[in-house]
Amino acid sequence: MASASLLYRSLLCLAVAVAVLAAADAAASLDSQCLDNPPELTAAGDGEAGVVVHGLAGFAAYVTGAVHSGRAVLLASDVFGFEAPLLRKIADKVGQAGYYVIVPDFFHGHPYTLELNLTEWLSMHHPVKAAEDAKQIFTALRKEGRSIIGVGGYCWGGKFAVEVAETNEVDAIVVNHPAWVTVDDIKEVKCPIEILGAQNDTEAPPKLVYQFVQALRQRTDKVDYFAKVFQGVNHGFACRYNASNPFENKRAEQALALMLDWFHKHLK
Ligand SMILES: *[C@@H]1O[C@H](CO)[C@@H](O)[C@H](O)[C@H]1NC(C)=O
Ligand SMILES: *[C@@H]1O[C@H](CO)[C@@H](O)[C@H](O)[C@H]1NC(C)=O
Ligand SMILES: *[C@@H]1O[C@H](CO)[C@@H](O)[C@H](O)[C@H]1NC(C)=O
Repeated sequence: MASASLLYRSLLCLAVAVAVLAAADAAASLDSQCLDNPPELTAAGDGEAGVVVHGLAGFAAYVTGAVHSGRAVLLASDVFGFEAPLLRKIADKVGQAGYYVIVPDFFHGHPYTLELNLTEWLSMHHPVKAAEDAKQIFTALRKEGRSIIGVGGYCWGGKFAVEVAETNEVDAIVVNHPAWVTVDDIKEVKCPIEILGAQNDTEAPPKLVYQFVQALRQRTDKVDYFAKVFQGVNHGFACRYNASNPFENKRAEQALALMLDWFHKHLK
């Protein structure tokens, strides 16, 4: 019985993996926006409020924010991983808003770098697989008394967030300029979901965001949802923006504010 269900699940995973790989192939050949503006890595720890811990249910993680809070937020990075300074800055700000924040290294020290083949990299660092592995992180958080958990995901992490939300592990998610998320995924989400898209996003174009909203609206098993498409910006605008550009900064700040609103509303 157990092995039959395991086999079924492996087959299911395989099917999903193949579908995602097909999507990734298409994205890779389209000169994916997922790979635009890779983060500049500054000296580790530069101006950061948090620390990197090891051994969080088998993952390294950047940890910041309210140490004693019972409300945790997991931020899932884009393909460039958990060392991106702008992502850590976001994590610090979410922490300052009263949450215990973790940014796990889902890639175990091997984020995507531009010389790699995205399809091949993705087959080894799969958001579906990571969502499965992350169950141990959620269990560890709950053992520490953090019973209310939100997830914010960016690009790769958007797919991760949606996968996690298809189980009952978390209480709310925010999906920023996701990659590889499908309408079928959205139909399976079991907690409140906020979707933040960009006008000029070829991974999750406004048309697709609109289809997500339609799917959420038509569901008989309603979950609370909110979606917004930001004008004048690209895929990556929420976490890989040009920090010296006032307009891009403002857009990223607006996305962060909406994410915090969503968490304040649903992580109580
Ligand atoms: C990336 O790897 C896949 C699978 O091995 C291969 O089919 C594809 O041609 C590669 N793409 C490039 C740009 O090398
Ligand atoms: C939209 O995205 C494409 C591909 O990343 C980029 O070349 C183009 O400059 C972007 N347009 C605007 C208005 O930012
Ligand atoms: C970032 O924005 C500033 C101000 O608009 C601009 O001068 C600079 O060229 C931009 N940098 C990149 C890498 O696009």
